[in-house]
Amino acid sequence: MNAVIQNIMTRRSVRSFKKNQITDTDLNIILQAAQYAPSGSNSQCWLFTVLQNEEILKKINGLVREAFSNLKVDENTYRSKKAGKNAALNDDYSFYYNAPTLIIVSNEREYCNAMADSSAALQNILLTAHSLGVSSCWINQLTWFCDEIKLRALLSQIGIPENHIVCGAAALGYNNLNELKPQARRDGRVNIVK
Ligand SMILES: Cc1cc2nc3c(=O)[nH]c(=O)nc-3n(C[C@H](O)[C@H](O)[C@H](O)COP(=O)(O)O)c2cc1C
Repeated sequence: MNAVIQNIMTRRSVRSFKKNQITDTDLNIILQAAQYAPSGSNSQCWLFTVLQNEEILKKINGLVREAFSNLKVDENTYRSKKAGKNAALNDDYSFYYNAPTLIIVSNEREYCNAMADSSAALQNILLTAHSLGVSSCWINQLTWFCDEIKLRALLSQIGIPENHIVCGAAALGYNNLNELKPQARRDGRVNIVK
């Protein structure tokens, strides 16, 4: 196995972070790698907003909790949203797991490849972070709630354009737990036709 494949196979979502910040050198490499992801027609119309300000992160967290409390759920609701709604009832809930860095990936609402391009960039973020010894987790709450009025106002304040949606986010920091082993992958997910 070469180093790239090894890196892909050993990345894990981490949900408990130490308080110490990642270095600017690592952050810059991660952001560079994000921008080297493929994009439809080489559009590159994404924006990577890096949040390392605890006060702003906590404000956003409060608004995410509020959005969860207003969320109506039924039997068809995506299970992570239902679980999130329950988890957000706890005062110590943090949708970004109190990671010291959150990178929000936004893209133009009307652009047909917004999600695809941003997801490719996010995967580059996660894998590059892992290769540098920085742990990460994909974070979806802002994708669900970016159009909630108060959250949108805050996102605008931090420079996310009005015509952007949040396509995803990555929590980054140093793992606070023991090293995690890769989770087993489901069988039967590949069909090779020759
Ligand atoms: C589109 C997408 C959204 C996700 N959203 C969240 C999230 O909001 N919170 C979270 O803890 N994990 C989130 N994850 C991480 C998945 O739960 C995780 O990748 C999956 O359980 C497999 O575990 P692994 O990443 O360790 O291989 C998300 C992953 C993807 C691809």
